[in-house]
This record gives sequence, C-alpha cells and structure tokens, in this order.
Amino acid sequence: MLKKKVEDICNRQVEREGYSANLYLAMASWAEVNGLAGVAEWLYAQAEEEKIHMLKFIRYINERGGKAIIPAFQKPPAEFKDVEQVFKEALKHEQLITASINEIVDLTLTEKDFNTRNFLEWFLAEQVEEEASAKAVLDKLSIGGKNSLYQFDRDIMSLRAKSGEVQTT
Ligand SMILES: [Fe+2]
Ligand SMILES: [Fe+2]
Repeated sequence: MLKKKVEDICNRQVEREGYSANLYLAMASWAEVNGLAGVAEWLYAQAEEEKIHMLKFIRYINERGGKAIIPAFQKPPAEFKDVEQVFKEALKHEQLITASINEIVDLTLTEKDFNTRNFLEWFLAEQVEEEASAKAVLDKLSIGGKNSLYQFDRDIMSLRAKSGEVQTT
C-alpha cells in the first residue's frame, strides 16, 4: 500500500509527464506547420514516449493500492522562435523532470518505500537519456544544422536511434 505522501508525489508526476507529452505535441505541431517534417516526427515520437511515462505512473499508483488522478493540463506554448528555441526549451524541461524524479526518489528514501524506489530506477536511467537526446540535437544545430535546416530536418530522426525505451537490464 502506498503511503499518502508517496501517492501524492507520484500523482504530481502523472501531471508532469502528461504535460511533457502535450508540450512535445505543441512543439511537433509548430514544426509541422513550419515545414519541418523531420523535426515534427522527432517531437511526435517524443510525445508518445511521454504518454508512456505518464501511463507507467498511473498503472504503478493503482497497482500499489493508490488512486491515480488524471488532471487538467496547463496549456503549452503554441509559438516558438525557431527550432533552436524548441530544443533549448526541451532540454530545460527535461532537466526539470530529472529534478522532479530525484525529489520522488528522495521522498521514497525518507519514507523507506523501497518498492517505489525500485520502480523509479527506470526513470532515473530514462532521464539521463532524455537530457542527452535533447543535447545531441542542440549540438547538431550548433555545428551547422542552423545553416542547413533542410539537411538537419532530413537527418534528425537518425539522432533518435539510441533513444526511446531505455535498456535497464
Ligand atoms: Fe518523461
Ligand atoms: Fe522526457
């Protein structure tokens, strides 16, 4: 049985992962209408992953005798300056999510909830991937991607090759 405090902070993460999905959807939609089909594909794929993250928390909370709450989500931004701003914001957002997961880990240690601590192991590894993935795109932009958005847009999906589901075994 989940302690109330742990249940509440896991529900907070349901909201944050769901918002992440919507944020990436908003970015994907922006990219799509601005002619960046490859970037849009990258961002739509990311949004799908975030939905899976949200589901993992929902299912875990319920499995442990808590009750997952599906919240209303804050409206994500609809406009972005350029593709670099999109990925800078994505990286900043992933860093916030990493901090958020770390806070939950911290609480599980105080509450001696080792099962939830174990559940979070996957997310700790995933966040390392998520930050690296956004950083890889920014690096590509800074070494010339900005000068050839056509090539950048064409090649961006190849940067996702190693991202996605984290191997934890
Ligand atoms: Fe996530
Ligand atoms: Fe993420």
